[in-house]
Amino acid sequence: MSEDRTRSTRRARILMCAPDHFEVSYTINPWMHPDRWQNESDVLAARSSQGWGSLAEVLRTLGADVELVPPVPGLPDLVFTANAAVILDGKALVATFRHPERQGETPVFRQAFDALKARGVLDEIHDMPPGLVLEGAGDCVFDPVRDVFWLGYGQRSDKESAAVIERTFGCEVVPLRLVDPRFYHMDTCLCPLNGGEALYFPGAFDAAGNDLIARRFGADNLIVAPEADARTLSVNAVNVGRDIVVATMSAVLRGMLEERGYRVHEVPITDFSLSGGSAFCLTLKLDRKSGGRDIAWEMPL
Ligand code: ARG
Repeated sequence: MSEDRTRSTRRARILMCAPDHFEVSYTINPWMHPDRWQNESDVLAARSSQGWGSLAEVLRTLGADVELVPPVPGLPDLVFTANAAVILDGKALVATFRHPERQGETPVFRQAFDALKARGVLDEIHDMPPGLVLEGAGDCVFDPVRDVFWLGYGQRSDKESAAVIERTFGCEVVPLRLVDPRFYHMDTCLCPLNGGEALYFPGAFDAAGNDLIARRFGADNLIVAPEADARTLSVNAVNVGRDIVVATMSAVLRGMLEERGYRVHEVPITDFSLSGGSAFCLTLKLDRKSGGRDIAWEMPL
């Protein structure tokens, strides 16, 4: 199926990190309860590592090569590679983190990107200026149709990081305030799709944010996730061409996406929601391109 379709076009490159040391051992968002993890840690660790394997497998089938960051003990959230950097046109802007619990990830990701640069996978690696927080693509999602970065601020990343992103990539950045602690990263509540639609949860944004989303995407392109889907992190989706990979999705939302020609794939990774993460969080697209140059791969015929 997709093999034939993707073979004729460029394969995508996605960065992941195996969950060998994944656990919930601290609380930096409302999803995280270390006691619940502890009660069932063996089962949860086994299940999450199996689920992660299925995610990597599905992405490979859909036409992605998976690059790996080596896991590090004591950095359980390193699995969420979406937070590693903002990437576009061969440039990586390495993330900085709000909470001390995740700050040790920055040098690990930096090293991984240096290694990718040495292999010619990336051209330039940039660091954030001291004192500014930017939690990577988790808070800075790219709209491949409009060439716009949507930056979530107010929970983790600083609004002032917008200027750094603009300078680094020469792309417009639209900052939106995140107002609900459950949706602490932009990728938990907004997913720009390859067909130009916004899959999003309006309750995560203030009135000004909702206004901007509606104006920039246009009324016909708004796909509103029901609250039940937002609560299972269905918005945290990986969109590859017309395929959408999620942990879980309601029949209602699946129907809305299928009506627009998308195919939805569920992979058994719901245990990552115990840390506040899901499909998109576990991936980072390394070959994102501006100027619509992604589209041939993103929307194969
Ligand atoms: N426990 C992690 C945190 O709170 C989860 C990160 C999920 N990643 C994401 N891109 N939303 O930072």
